[in-house]
Amino acid sequence: MTPKTFKIKSFGCQMNVYDGERMAELLGEQGMSAAPEGEDADLVVLNTCHIREKAADKAYSDVGRLRREDGSKPLVALAGCVAQAEGAEARKRSQLIDIVVGPQAYHRLPEMVAEAARGGRPVDTDMPAISKFDALPKRRRANPSSFLSVQEGCDKFCTYCVVPYTRGAEISRPWNDIVDEARALIDVGAREIVLLGQNVNAWAHEGRGLADLIRALNELTGLERIRYTTSHPADMNDDLIAAHGDVEKLMPYLHLPVQSGSNRILKAMNRSHTADTYLRILEKMRAARPDIALSGDFIVGFPGECEEDFKATLNIVDEVRYASAYSFKYSPRPGTPAAVMEDQIPRELMEERLERLHDRIGEHQLAFNRSKVGTETQILVERKGKRAGQMIGRTPWLQSVHVEVDAQPGEIVNVTLVAAGPNSMSGAIAEKVAA
Ligand code: SAH
Ligand code: SF4
Ligand code: F3S
Repeated sequence: MTPKTFKIKSFGCQMNVYDGERMAELLGEQGMSAAPEGEDADLVVLNTCHIREKAADKAYSDVGRLRREDGSKPLVALAGCVAQAEGAEARKRSQLIDIVVGPQAYHRLPEMVAEAARGGRPVDTDMPAISKFDALPKRRRANPSSFLSVQEGCDKFCTYCVVPYTRGAEISRPWNDIVDEARALIDVGAREIVLLGQNVNAWAHEGRGLADLIRALNELTGLERIRYTTSHPADMNDDLIAAHGDVEKLMPYLHLPVQSGSNRILKAMNRSHTADTYLRILEKMRAARPDIALSGDFIVGFPGECEEDFKATLNIVDEVRYASAYSFKYSPRPGTPAAVMEDQIPRELMEERLERLHDRIGEHQLAFNRSKVGTETQILVERKGKRAGQMIGRTPWLQSVHVEVDAQPGEIVNVTLVAAGPNSMSGAIAEKVAA
């Protein structure tokens, strides 16, 4: 039976969120519609993440739960990075899976769904040279803050990471395609565009780099804010740093993962920077944009990490004073070099280090948020809060602000920041600036 309704669940990074939105648009174009909240769908797409073991296991436990009480099941499509990593093998782990579609092949989803509806079991994990983006429909829906993938894949091969295998080699989308998609998003309500890539600052097209692209987007009427994520220290060039100093709509926020503060561990991770070269980039960034909010990612318990290495990580956290940062326990991934390195760190030690790192990061997050208390700033209203009349928006530094205001998502309002927690702030009113 041809499905009429679908549900797409995306896990992992923002690029998966973007891909999920595009798959929804593709299926919509075929006449299918999103199943209402809480109702069964004829087709379920699980858009999965393979970055850590837990994320991958979650995909299969979610598949298992799709069988209905009466024994029937929806059509099930396994998409995303687990699909790419496991291909046809995925079906051996779960018979419930009908379709396996990798991140570079999802433009073929409608025909694969049709094939599955006829009883077929299609698998496509090819990484074709032609761009899947060309086969996707025009944007018809946007959030106030909308994602736009401009770059995909990774050539860096950090020794712990699956992304180069699940997303393939670095490719950049052409300039015109990106600008057209940005315009389309603005036409349907985007006020902020977040340029996405696994290595977004490696974006390059016909001699132009990410800074040029950001400068061009800065000229688009109706667009108020520009962000980009995630960047690699090796591709953080002076042009991009300078853009933070003089491009009006580019927000004062940078997510630049360092992973560890220990040069010995960074080398074993095949990161191309040292703690020092990383800090020098941030120094330049702060010179260009003194109020920039800095963010990063950390892995604790990489093979061979000793207490001294870990202390170097705590030191770099103190030195940078991150406005926000994410920390993860090292997770050995099949097929990556680090998975077979000696001296794997016991789980309890990883947990202890993660907690210490988490606490330290939390202190800096709170300090950063507190430093903004009493100041007036603008937030882009994104959605309703839990309480009646309450809305949630973001400051230029990406802090979440709860505020009681009569405003719709997509509006920009002036607020005074009145209280700070480690993960969010509250604001007081409030005058509308731009609709
Ligand atoms: N391309 C980006 C992000 C990649 S994945 C970058 O290079 O920064 C997001 C984060 O997941 C990484 O920054 C890293 O901190 C974490 N990560 C990746 N592989 C991991 C693994 N095997 N175990 C634990 N964390 C991992
Ligand atoms: Fe993974 Fe490293 Fe590439 Fe980031 S730069 S996606 S961590 S291999
Ligand atoms: Fe996960 Fe794939 Fe993104 S592994 S983090 S969904 S690139």
